[in-house]
Amino acid sequence: MVTVVVGTQWGDEGKGKVIDYLAKDMDIVARYQGGANAGHTVIINGKKFIFHLVPSGILYPEKICLIGNGTVIDPVSLFEEIAFLEKNGIKVDDRLFIYENAHITMPYHKILDQIEDKFRGKGELGTTGRGIGTTYADKYGRIGIRVVDLLDDDVFYEKLKIALELKNYLLKEYYKEKILNADKIYNDYKEIREKIKKYIINGTIFINDMLSKGKNILAEGAQGTFLDIDFGTYPYVTASNPISGGSCTGLGISPTKIDKVIGIVKAYTTRVGKGPFPTEMKGLLEDTLRRSGNEYGATTGRPRRCGWFDSVIVRFASIVNGLDEIFITKLDVLSGIEKLKIGVAYKYDGKIYNEYPMNMKVFSNCEVIYEEMDGWSESISDIKEYSKLPTNAKKYIERIQELIEVKISAISVGSEREQIIKI
Ligand code: GDP
Ligand code: IMO
Ligand code: MG
Repeated sequence: MVTVVVGTQWGDEGKGKVIDYLAKDMDIVARYQGGANAGHTVIINGKKFIFHLVPSGILYPEKICLIGNGTVIDPVSLFEEIAFLEKNGIKVDDRLFIYENAHITMPYHKILDQIEDKFRGKGELGTTGRGIGTTYADKYGRIGIRVVDLLDDDVFYEKLKIALELKNYLLKEYYKEKILNADKIYNDYKEIREKIKKYIINGTIFINDMLSKGKNILAEGAQGTFLDIDFGTYPYVTASNPISGGSCTGLGISPTKIDKVIGIVKAYTTRVGKGPFPTEMKGLLEDTLRRSGNEYGATTGRPRRCGWFDSVIVRFASIVNGLDEIFITKLDVLSGIEKLKIGVAYKYDGKIYNEYPMNMKVFSNCEVIYEEMDGWSESISDIKEYSKLPTNAKKYIERIQELIEVKISAISVGSEREQIIKI
């Protein structure tokens, strides 16, 4: 059985926490897209783990974790993460595997990502600087280096030289930056290439074999629906397909094998980096929410922009991902806010939009039509049963369910593993 977990907003919905929670009933957790731009937080007994590339199921000692072909892998970042896990007593050997056809993020991808974003001037995206867009661009430009290429000295050297010829031209002639030396990178990567060997597998055959044996697989999405390269707020998006469909191309599994899609929905909205955000709050309330929700990027530490819940985008997320159910996260953060608002439609140029418009001119300049609801003042972090929630919290949840037309199956009320209410 395959269950896909997908972000329904602009990332950071709390996917890490939910994946860790769901992983107890899974045999395999597999990341299907994105790279070290992701920051998935799992907190267990006060100990914080932030996963960038390693799947969020790794904390269970018996689970197998896969990094799919749809991801882009920065081996430097990956080994930092593995070292952190091992220092904390988490063993990854013989249960963490990497698809051989995933693409590698090289040093020039990170350098160029940062330079290119600055060169965009007013159109700067505010990327994470992790070389994501530049690695995917090389994948599609067909000058990328894949995991399997690391296994062979000649192939790796040849591909590195071809890529660097172009990158150095760009660095020197266009960006007026220092060029890179192929031999130096080749030598620097010797140790990494040796170390990574034992993790490399034909993931497509492996995962399909596991499926035929009846194993339970959790496909872990990174980022969120509105950072999707096709359906997000282009160009303010990431360079992959976080939507559920990305799990098929990113893991080599057939669409007929997907059994369930779970959407992770934050009880309000956040966004890091640039781009339109209609329900964004301004001023004191945003600061309060940022503080109580600890809304700072798990990868870059940047303050996240905060806003009201937007039912229009989450309804679209439900359609494009085919959501079977949703998990609401961070409901506890809304305690103490007197009046809560929910965005239910947009208005632009005299026209009402009930659906998410692909036209970013509309989405960037629209006015939001809100419904207002009464909040609740008490802390809900220790509540374990839905019936014990304050009446207004239940009304808020029920209204969201009505607007999105997807069953809410759980509510997270804190960052710890047990702080979850099953409905
Ligand atoms: P992800 O990228 O979707 O995995 O989310 P992040 O880990 O980047 O951001 C979510 C943040 O919220 C992390 O700091 C989590 O520990 C925290 N978190 C997750 N669920 C809850 C919740 O229900 N309540 C509170 N207060 N924090 C939560
Ligand atoms: P998780 O998996 C939130 C944002 C960046 C930037 C845009 C493009 O933790 O939810 P990129 O480096 O991908 O080219 O940056 O996407 N972004 C995220 N925002 N959560 C993430 O991941 C993100 N990964 C990328 O801030 O606006
Ligand atoms: Mg995150």
